[in-house]
Amino acid sequence: MTTKILLSEEDIPKEWYNINPDLPKPLPPPIDPGTHEPIKPEVLERVFAKELLKQEMSQERWIPIPEEVREIYQIWRPTPLIRAKRLEKLLKTPAKIYYKYEGVSPPGSHKPNTAVPQAYYNVKQGIEKLTTETGAGQWGSSLAFAGKMFDIDITVYMVKISYEQKPYRKSMMHAWGADVTPSPSNRTNFGRNMLKKDPNHPGSLGIAISEAIEDAVTHDNVRYTLGSVLGHVLLHQTVQGLEAKKQFEMIDEYPDIVAGCVGGGSSFSGLSFPFYYDKITGKAPKDVKFVATEPTSCPTLTKGIYTYDFGDTANMTPLLPMYSLGSDFVPAPIHAGGLRYHGDAPSLCLMVKEGVIEAKAYDQVSVFDAAAMFAMSEGTIPAPEPSHTIRYVIDEALRCKESGEEKVILFNLCGHGHFDMGAYDEYFENRLKPWEYPQEKVEESIKKLQEKFPWVKDLPYLK
Ligand SMILES: Cc1ncc(COP(=O)(O)O)c(C=O)c1O
Repeated sequence: MTTKILLSEEDIPKEWYNINPDLPKPLPPPIDPGTHEPIKPEVLERVFAKELLKQEMSQERWIPIPEEVREIYQIWRPTPLIRAKRLEKLLKTPAKIYYKYEGVSPPGSHKPNTAVPQAYYNVKQGIEKLTTETGAGQWGSSLAFAGKMFDIDITVYMVKISYEQKPYRKSMMHAWGADVTPSPSNRTNFGRNMLKKDPNHPGSLGIAISEAIEDAVTHDNVRYTLGSVLGHVLLHQTVQGLEAKKQFEMIDEYPDIVAGCVGGGSSFSGLSFPFYYDKITGKAPKDVKFVATEPTSCPTLTKGIYTYDFGDTANMTPLLPMYSLGSDFVPAPIHAGGLRYHGDAPSLCLMVKEGVIEAKAYDQVSVFDAAAMFAMSEGTIPAPEPSHTIRYVIDEALRCKESGEEKVILFNLCGHGHFDMGAYDEYFENRLKPWEYPQEKVEESIKKLQEKFPWVKDLPYLK
């Protein structure tokens, strides 16, 4: 029985899959907080590269991947599809478990799948510097890597608490020549204001986003980049699902379930959307189920409210139609740093709302139980983020053991956990605590948003 299903470099997809024309309903538009109307792309050209905005709005189903991008992808793509035989044996399950392993990229996660094209399109436009935010450092290090590949300057605003707690992610960004600043910082008006209120502010992703955008829009020839949530990011990530489909063809197999973790939604969408395309075009030989996993401490899809909300704390971004915990959400310091965002990708949220995707939340202790089981059977030490999905996969495989079903389960192991060993130490020393974000806090936050911006409630697009 084969363990690794491998493709050749020739098999790296030549086009990304754009879900926009295939969504169950048209996507409600992003709203300009100034005009209360759908935002005009020209307004965003000061923030994002033009080609990326074109992709964001595109209704073309297939978008060509530039040869220069495929050439960089060749460093680590195609990624392997691996049969988790040893985990199956440990669980004594008849289920067949496969994972698409994205931890083989230089930064160790799926994030460079989009960092590389984002750097490419900006360089092509003549942009000289990119700014971004990072939480635990996966996205920042991926953009630093991509910036080095295309020779463009990168400034990363890193959430201060992570900057202090995860020094090696910062070192990695330095190794690729990026400029890394703890956020809140003295470099922006918004950062200075936050520091005036609290000189020891630990920072948050929402604050770092506000700083990175301010830096971009107040300097010439600088643009901002985002590592998740937006449509063009999800688009670039579809290389995962497109490759996985070819890999399943090679072994004459097809998944019954496609699962992944959701921080902003890019890795899960990247793996699952190409299988969704098969499903709606009648090409899928099975009625595939899609399952998104998240932490109980940041339960955007399971407890969030479907509304228009801002993407950042300073309310500088357009309003996006999404499940939200409120843009003033301050996450608990859980170890899945990549899953602590208050919102999620609008297309993914729409699919959850329409019942196409199921969402499940897990607490960090049960997540690390699963991560340890995976590491001890499969060998690879998973990042805390995909370990939320491993929890689901193990539960489902045990359910299959009870029912005798030979389900084929696919998930993406979207990063390794080599920079998360402090979290594993805490787990093994029984210092991790489960934590559930209360529903009342979500309602309070959204109420506050609607009191501050009463017109948000009256926007016609979600009705
Ligand atoms: C390893 C890993 N997985 C998942 C995520 C969550 O992001 P997304 O939902 O966009 O894949 C992150 C984000 O930083 C991450 O680093």
